[in-house]
Amino acid sequence: QKARIGVTGLAVMGRNLARNLARHGHPVAVHNRTPTRTKSLIEEFGDEGTFLPADTPEQFVASLERPRRLVIMVKAGAPTDAVIGEFAPLLEPGDMIVDGGNANFADTRRRESALREQGIHFVGTGISGGEEGALHGPSIMPGGSAESYAALGPLLEDIAAKVDGTPCCTHVGPDGAGHFVKMVHNGIEYADMQLIAESYDLLRHAAGLEPAEIAEVFRTWNEGRLESYLIEITAEVLAHTDASTGRPFVDVVLDQAEQKGTGRWTVQTALDLGVPVGGIAEAVFARSVSGHAALRDAARNLPGPSRAGGVGSGFADAVEKALYASKIIAYAQGFHEIQAGSAEYGWNIDLGAMATIWRGGCIIRARFLDRIRAAYEADPETPTLLTDDHFAEAAGEAQDAWREVVATAARLGIPAPGFSTALAYYDSLRAPRLPAALTQGQRDYFGAHTYRRVDREGSFHTLWGGDRSEVTA
Ligand code: 6PG
Repeated sequence: QKARIGVTGLAVMGRNLARNLARHGHPVAVHNRTPTRTKSLIEEFGDEGTFLPADTPEQFVASLERPRRLVIMVKAGAPTDAVIGEFAPLLEPGDMIVDGGNANFADTRRRESALREQGIHFVGTGISGGEEGALHGPSIMPGGSAESYAALGPLLEDIAAKVDGTPCCTHVGPDGAGHFVKMVHNGIEYADMQLIAESYDLLRHAAGLEPAEIAEVFRTWNEGRLESYLIEITAEVLAHTDASTGRPFVDVVLDQAEQKGTGRWTVQTALDLGVPVGGIAEAVFARSVSGHAALRDAARNLPGPSRAGGVGSGFADAVEKALYASKIIAYAQGFHEIQAGSAEYGWNIDLGAMATIWRGGCIIRARFLDRIRAAYEADPETPTLLTDDHFAEAAGEAQDAWREVVATAARLGIPAPGFSTALAYYDSLRAPRLPAALTQGQRDYFGAHTYRRVDREGSFHTLWGGDRSEVTA
């Protein structure tokens, strides 16, 4: 018997993905660089389906039906290149290599083009949902050729999460499109987590609630429009008590957030594409600030506000509104980046389809994503989600509370970079005139960089050092 698909790299994500395939009745070949992992997978879970264990790459490749479908689940970067280098020579034209790691989309583009020369389909695939998702149904974002999707799609859709019967998996677009979209998914994940963290911080330090009380607030929110996996787990984490000290768990965790790189890539890429993603950027920076222990130690005694004051009774509701409005902004920015990346690389990504496959399985899964799907269904070409009827109305309705929350944070000296940047973006987009006109004047003054006028076509320069007359540039 041959395997329909194979998974190499049996750390927790790879192992669970292989089990998911086997549980769905797909015979799956399994391989790991050190065979002990393969052995333990078979020992522990061998009865879940048909596994074909292989000790060597040759054995692994030989056990796959043709065209071969080979999934690599190893660390992004050099380890991925090493595994490709090991397996590609064993493959034949028409075979497919699926990279299910969090690869940088530029690497995926490079690998796809190199392997295409050998006739091998390289399918850079975003997989979200953590270990549980990999086992029970992740959200899957495959890139690569349409031909490879025809051969892989049914398998991937079979093991993906389902929402209303629709699989959370679709062909994203050519070459690096899948990993690009996964990268932005993670950027949005960072922004969403930061906004939730700021909500917690304000409820704790402005409203004076205890973690267990805040957990209840999040539980209530999770029954409304904010319903999402991240809100749900926030309540769980906040309600948890540390066993060794009896203190709230959140109080015994070192307050330095780490990151593996996808959020940072989202921002770096956005800068290259010229897309403003302040919500995601502030989330990355907030993690960065938290980790600068020496900097924070040095600054700890800087003076805070002298007249702080408290907050009113409706504060938690105001925070809910600020959170919802800021979340709209962060997602609008992320989708803008996907739109720009798609245009830059000719991927033709269907934005509504991305919202559809993020409704379930992934870390940012939420009721909210169905709203985004509907917004793109109503207007596939919209330049921003923010002008969709539902989102515009929600942001407008939230704005008094949103402004109040940002003002309260500033007044009390509680950092709220996510809420603040989201509100600034909202106000920038609505502003009839931006001070960018002054910036242009300054640039023209010191560097003769020229400016355009509101009343005439062309580029102009004012002779600032001379008689200040205007010339055509
Ligand atoms: C997912 C997650 C997953 C991973 C993050 C964590 O979609 O399942 O995003 O890919 O947990 O990359 O990222 P950081 O370690 O950078 O927070």
